[in-house]
Amino acid sequence: MPYEFLIVEVADRIATVTVNRPDKLNALNARVLEELDGVFGALATDRHVNAVIVTGAGRSFVAGADIAEIAGHDAAGLERMSAAGQAIFNRIERLPKPVIAAVNGFALGGGCELALACHIRVASEHAKFGLPEVKLGLIPGYGGTQRLARLIGKGRAMQLILSGEQIDAAEAYRIGLVNALATGPTLHEVAQSVALQVARNGPLALARAIEAINDGFDRLPDDAMAIEARLFGSLGGTKDMAEGTAAFLAKRPAQFTGE
Ligand code: COA
Repeated sequence: MPYEFLIVEVADRIATVTVNRPDKLNALNARVLEELDGVFGALATDRHVNAVIVTGAGRSFVAGADIAEIAGHDAAGLERMSAAGQAIFNRIERLPKPVIAAVNGFALGGGCELALACHIRVASEHAKFGLPEVKLGLIPGYGGTQRLARLIGKGRAMQLILSGEQIDAAEAYRIGLVNALATGPTLHEVAQSVALQVARNGPLALARAIEAINDGFDRLPDDAMAIEARLFGSLGGTKDMAEGTAAFLAKRPAQFTGE
């Protein structure tokens, strides 16, 4: 499918999705969101893809929702926009294969929320993070108020969201907003290395691990453990489990098929 604002490349079972609207710092207009929804829908079932990298073209990752579009909305329109964006970012968070945000520049507003919806975040030294919506008289609407607090804690999330200030990559790493910084190797190399590391593992196990972490996260411990036990059990009898355990015992690398 041809995209107007996305570049999608697949190599070594890793798909790289590049948001490509550099003249507007990759701001998320309705079309970009629609395309993200379409591509993640397709990647979910693409048997040639085991992991996904999301990044931005030019000097920005994504500088937020498109402010020109927001400006035209009334209350009902804003609520619809928020619900639609949340649904797309939920799709990314629930993708049954690892999604890595490679944050190459500004990750502001909806761009920070896009990175938060990904499973793992790596960033270049020049990346900037922030949720500046309050400076526009708004609040984060694509899951930011919830995901940021869950990731870095309520107090730090309050400070970032209420101040609307940007933080640099080093501070984002320090507070656990990003998993790794590309200090020596390029961002592309770091993202690729993380993607390859996860993509070599059993596809069914990756899918169940993502599901277990996501579904158990906000539950009471006993309920979350029950989810883990069910998903752990669901791998019994799969070819991936037979192959992974046999390969270990035979001291050879596993060849998973995702079955
Ligand atoms: N929505 C729409 N357009 C945006 C945008 C956004 N979120 N962020 C940047 N752009 C556009 C600018 O309007 C400008 O377009 P123009 O060249 O047609 O005037 C272009 O992208 C380049 O941005 P510019 O502001 O000139 O770059 P800069 O280097 O001076 O500043 C930022 C970079 C990221 C600090 C600044 O663009 C910014 O604050 N963006 C908005 C961030 C934000 O509030 N996001 C949350 C939205 S809810």
